[in-house]
Amino acid sequence: MPTKEFRVQKTSSRESVKTLISKARVQKRIKELAHEIRLDFPEDTLHLVGVLKGAIFFLADLARELHGNVSFDFIAVSSYGKNTDSSGEVRLTKDLDVRIENKTVLLVEDILDTGLTLDYLLRILRERKPKHLRTTVLLDKPERRVTDVHADYVGFTIPNEFVVGYGLDYAERYRNLSDVSILRFGDAQKK
Ligand code: IMP
Repeated sequence: MPTKEFRVQKTSSRESVKTLISKARVQKRIKELAHEIRLDFPEDTLHLVGVLKGAIFFLADLARELHGNVSFDFIAVSSYGKNTDSSGEVRLTKDLDVRIENKTVLLVEDILDTGLTLDYLLRILRERKPKHLRTTVLLDKPERRVTDVHADYVGFTIPNEFVVGYGLDYAERYRNLSDVSILRFGDAQKK
């Protein structure tokens, strides 16, 4: 009998999800990340910039674990459509509401995959002269990297699998799953 953590859940006739990282592990790791980040910037107001939409739960949980002053804003870029492969094109679809000049900015992203999105965002944000610019990603898939970008604070390094849940989607679905789960196609009966 598989444990709840590794149970395969059939979600449609063709798709199934299998937990990779439970909600409890995500929460524990976010506490650690918040502690680490605050140690590096003990006095600063941390201005979190969440990348819509995948980072919303990560940002919400991280913000509440960070002590001291925190503010946040959101930015959006074009991402994957219905496929699990990136087009390689990054486009800004929503800009920030407030200026970041002289702020300590923490870019909050759900997953670092090819690195194209983070590379693009870091380039445009750097031009706006923040006091500090750091990045945190909940998940890092280093095998897929095509740029030499890296995140300063990484939640989990994961294998090259397409994952959903905790904000991450496939064609806008599965964001509301509590666990980070692997999405499989056409093998709903397999463990
Ligand atoms: P990158 O530009 O290839 O690093 O991809 C970054 C974006 O692609 C993320 O913000 C996600 O929106 C999306 N993405 C990459 N890998 C996955 C995945 O495994 N599941 C869901 N979305 C993903």
